[in-house]
Amino acid sequence: MDGDFAFHDLAPGQENFRDAVIAGLDGNPRSLPCKFFYDARGSELFEEICDTPEYYLTRTELAILDEFADAIAAEIGPHARLVELGSGASRKVRLLLQALKQPAAYVPVDISREHLREAAGLLAADFPDLPVIAVCADYTRPFRLPPMPGPTGKRVGFFPGSTIGNFEPEAVVRFLRNCAELLGPGGEMLIGADLKKESELLDAAYNDRAGKNAAFNLNMLERINRELSGDLDIDQFEHLAFYNEDERRMELYIRSLADQTATIAGRSFRFERGERIHTENSYKYPQDEFCRLAGRAGFSPVHSWTDKNELFCVYYFRQG
Ligand code: AVI
Repeated sequence: MDGDFAFHDLAPGQENFRDAVIAGLDGNPRSLPCKFFYDARGSELFEEICDTPEYYLTRTELAILDEFADAIAAEIGPHARLVELGSGASRKVRLLLQALKQPAAYVPVDISREHLREAAGLLAADFPDLPVIAVCADYTRPFRLPPMPGPTGKRVGFFPGSTIGNFEPEAVVRFLRNCAELLGPGGEMLIGADLKKESELLDAAYNDRAGKNAAFNLNMLERINRELSGDLDIDQFEHLAFYNEDERRMELYIRSLADQTATIAGRSFRFERGERIHTENSYKYPQDEFCRLAGRAGFSPVHSWTDKNELFCVYYFRQG
């Protein structure tokens, strides 16, 4: 414990990038897991996407948290332990922490050790009366929270950013069941998720004019070249993103612009012109459908807050 800042390292295993890339490119259809977007360059590019005029998600969620911070804080109540899953830079949570009544602790959970240490340290300095208990863990797998100081208050999980939209629906249910286990009886969840809407807005958000989404998607290939001694010719691939109406999701692919061969980690791969590598799904749920999924994990909706255009939703769930 360093003042009001503690660090618990649960030593999460890092999934092997090489094995995942080879398995994904050997698959039919080909795919690359979206979690590998976020190397240092990918994280930077994602921040740049958030600043594009077309990508409404981040700024809309921030506006909702800002506008309804007091109402959300009232729902959460006093002495809560706020557990943020995938806390990153701990930016959005500041709006909540300012509004919460005597929070007992803030528990940022992230797999990225140094990033977590730095962000948690900065936050602890800005909120000197708040115990900050950072936990380095892979939140997509079951883990336990360390003992917490102070009076007993409820545990509330915070999962903003519509990251939940990047999970397959069955994985959403599994994840929320793990959250219920993690938070214990009475634990509640505050979740930010994108809403279903007309495809024009979605297509624009994922095909911004400045080309940030394209750079972010293609950075997956750059990362393969950097880390797996690849010789992929990035100029011979393009970003493809479109809304799949039936599945209610944005789908991202990398498409080959030529018949070509590349070597990755000593293995040779052939790509046909027009062939796609699937890199991400981003689900857009109507509110009732999202609440049904949460219900399968034992959570029922208490409240939800949206912007006036109903682009994005912040949900509050309790167990039972
Ligand atoms: C992190 N996640 C919510 C983003 C999304 O909108 O699904 C990732 C992203 N992919 C392309 N642009 C942004």
